Amino acid sequence: MRYFILSDVHANREALQAVLEDMKLFQPRFRGSVSNASLAHEDHEPTPCPLPGGELASAHRLDSSPPGRGEGVGESMESGSRATADALVNLGDTIGYMPHPNEVMDILWPVCDLILPGNHDLEVAHLFHASEQEARLLRARYNEQAAWSLEWTKRALAPRNLDRLTALSQRQRFLFRKDHLLFAHASPVLPERMYYIDGTMAARELFFSHQQFDGTIAFVGHIHVPQLYIREPKGILGGRLRFEPPKVAPSGPIEKRWPVKKGETVLVVVPSVGQPRDGLYYAGYAVYDDSTEELIMRRVPYDVIVTQSEMRALDFPPKLWGRLARGI
Ligand SMILES: [Fe+2]
Repeated sequence: MRYFILSDVHANREALQAVLEDMKLFQPRFRGSVSNASLAHEDHEPTPCPLPGGELASAHRLDSSPPGRGEGVGESMESGSRATADALVNLGDTIGYMPHPNEVMDILWPVCDLILPGNHDLEVAHLFHASEQEARLLRARYNEQAAWSLEWTKRALAPRNLDRLTALSQRQRFLFRKDHLLFAHASPVLPERMYYIDGTMAARELFFSHQQFDGTIAFVGHIHVPQLYIREPKGILGGRLRFEPPKVAPSGPIEKRWPVKKGETVLVVVPSVGQPRDGLYYAGYAVYDDSTEELIMRRVPYDVIVTQSEMRALDFPPKLWGRLARGI
């Protein structure tokens, strides 16, 4: 089975479109998602894209779908039309920071086999139900720009997407395990606290030093800086990954591949789709094939100028749109 793993889309529609377009290299089923992206608006409910997904699909329906809303995933399970054995996993923080929360959620909810909550997803859901004092305390936990974007997103969110986030929040499922694979938004240890994996020490404390993760291949996001750690006999090897942009135009995708075998203990911090912070603005995602036992990370250029222009037109703070092109 191949797992296509996204994280931290942060309502960046153009970056998500570029990633889904790039995924067509591997799997044509994402084509429907891309066409939905250009059509989605407040009154448009995208056509569900039938997908396989097995256990992961049921988890997504359980976690995320509002009552009575069939979102395509279940339909493919009932019909038994398993054309492929691929799964699309969203590790969370689908919204926040950028101006297309509804479009991005309308693209991803029908096509993902598993969606986990990120901190921004949960905070926006909480803001809807919080008193003014609770909302002030909640915003105080974030920097000025992040707090601004939480409020902006709350105001922009369509009722159907509030329903989706509320369901995600109420489910309180922060970690998903399937066989030897693990998915979480942030730290595998205390996943509801969402500690950052920001180096070898954090990787050790929040994953490798815990016996229950022996032989586990874990995929997390949250920090927007791609990293890879592997337990070897002499210790934990790995760290931050460097993706060098092509020196000549036109720029194209960048790809890195590693063998990752069943039985190994591995922590993968996948790149952010919508707001990379490793100095390269390219959107990113990961693919893991558990039959070939190969991990791929890809970085994909997108039209960041369009995203910045949209944010400026909506009076987003300059710090929020200014950093996008620098990948910080
Ligand atoms: Fe996050």
